[in-house]
Amino acid sequence: MTAIKVGIIIGSLAKASINRKLASALEKLAPEGMSFSEIAIGDLPLYSYDYDSDYPAEGRALKAQIEASDAILLVTPEYNRSIPGGLKNALDWASRPWGTNSFNGKPVAVIGTSPGAIGTAVAQTALRPVLGFMNTIQMNQIEAYIQYKPDMIDDQGAITNPETAKFLSGFLESFQSFAARHKG
Ligand SMILES: Cc1cc2nc3c(=O)[nH]c(=O)nc-3n(C[C@H](O)[C@H](O)[C@H](O)COP(=O)(O)O)c2cc1C
Repeated sequence: MTAIKVGIIIGSLAKASINRKLASALEKLAPEGMSFSEIAIGDLPLYSYDYDSDYPAEGRALKAQIEASDAILLVTPEYNRSIPGGLKNALDWASRPWGTNSFNGKPVAVIGTSPGAIGTAVAQTALRPVLGFMNTIQMNQIEAYIQYKPDMIDDQGAITNPETAKFLSGFLESFQSFAARHKG
């Protein structure tokens, strides 16, 4: 399989984030050839175009990491039926200064978990038009709306239910093939 470097952006800033746990579990399930590296978003100031003439180090680092990745995996919670503000802020930073959108043509996939039965479906549906406007290439299938249960991930960070692990492995394998087809 083609080697794919995936940058993971976790939409939650919480220390005990269940989406961070899911991201770690996904790393353990990664197919051969797929490597992960987190792109942190927690230190970014709130974006304003006042920064465009002199982009701060945090913004430049974010853009460089996205551009160095073959593909981006967004692992996001749902906050108030949309994406968390911190994630939207990071996307805005990545999209600017005008003409230097770091997501342009980048293969992306979206996944998320919440305790609610629809497992971040509304947040992901809100995220997709943003990614569309940013001219990413989105993996439309497999969709992954993961309902979080306290026993879903064990103390070692592994998915406990074999069916869930199989589903998530399939999601990653699809993403690997998708990213290999679309990487620049
Ligand atoms: C500000 C806020 C808004 C939330 N809104 C939703 C929501 O719209 N839908 C949902 O399923 N869960 C919602 N939740 C519950 C989250 O799913 C839950 O806190 C989950 O742990 C968030 O993921 P994280 O731990 O990775 O941040 C909300 C939580 C917070 C803090």
